[in-house]
Amino acid sequence: MLQQLEELKSQALQELSDSDSVDGLVSWRVRYLGKKSELTRVLRNLATLPLEERKKIGARANQVRVDLEDGLQQKNQALREIQMSASAEGELIDITLPGRTVHTGHLHPITQTLDEICGIFGSMGFQVVTGPDVEWDYYNFEALNIPNEHPARDNMSTSWVDFTLDSGERPMLLRTHTTSVSARTIESRQPPIRTVSVGKVFRYEASDVTHTPMFHQIDGLAVDKGITMADLKGTLYEFARRFFGEERKVRFRCDYFPFVEPGVEMAIECLACRGGGCRLCGNSGWIEILGAGMTHPRVLERGGIDPEVYTSFAFGIGIERLPMLRYGIDDIRLFFGSDTRFLRQF
Ligand code: DAH
Repeated sequence: MLQQLEELKSQALQELSDSDSVDGLVSWRVRYLGKKSELTRVLRNLATLPLEERKKIGARANQVRVDLEDGLQQKNQALREIQMSASAEGELIDITLPGRTVHTGHLHPITQTLDEICGIFGSMGFQVVTGPDVEWDYYNFEALNIPNEHPARDNMSTSWVDFTLDSGERPMLLRTHTTSVSARTIESRQPPIRTVSVGKVFRYEASDVTHTPMFHQIDGLAVDKGITMADLKGTLYEFARRFFGEERKVRFRCDYFPFVEPGVEMAIECLACRGGGCRLCGNSGWIEILGAGMTHPRVLERGGIDPEVYTSFAFGIGIERLPMLRYGIDDIRLFFGSDTRFLRQF
């Protein structure tokens, strides 16, 4: 009988170690530990044995049962671990590997810059406005005191839309500056006006490190009674302080734009050499960042605002240059190349 128990045990454990599914364990359990199993039969028949033998065989049979139950539990555990690390298709997965990082996107650096600048002007009372990218010649040029034969048109390499009037004129274009939206604002609103128009502008130009055929601008406009050049300078000083920092020096110089009189350009102290002169600033120590001026009376008049009653200032900022200066980016094309190694940094 003892011999029989030993054989039973070793056969059961062998089968257990060979089984490779949790389902298989259920039938194993029925076979070796169930009511009709050999072991149960041995235990049940103990009563028929003489006392001595009953003790010996009983103890052994109970021990075999404990061993089989332990073995079953261990095998069960082992099989479950294997099952957990296998995916539904049966492919093996290492569940101890750290999970893959989920890359969340963020706003494009140009959008971030636009938001920041709109925030600065917004806090000074300017309202953000937008207008069409495809614009009439009228708002892009004519209304801004740039008539048909004006040489200023040559500076703004224009992409014309293929739409011709009976007269042969092509009146539609991709706006070359967001000053076109300011022209629309002058026509459609009554003073007091304080707006910044934001968006894409287009120039018919080849790309290089400082040029792309599409870039972004913010064009500011303030119209009210008694507006002077001092308001313009104060507003732009504040902007430069907030965007570039308290200590950055700012310089105004005369410049020409047909829609302002007088016209100015604003430069900030070069960020690379702090005014000493370097390659970035062409040895001048200054970097031009915007054009501005007092809105030309003719522009106001054309839009239906009396220049004898109201005065106005305007300014136009190219956006891409600002993060380029701030972060030392040396190629404007990086902004539009969709290379995430670049974009991820902002
Ligand atoms: N629109 C001009 C450009 O694209 C920039 C500019 C200059 C805008 C002076 C203005 C301004 O509003 O007053 O070059």
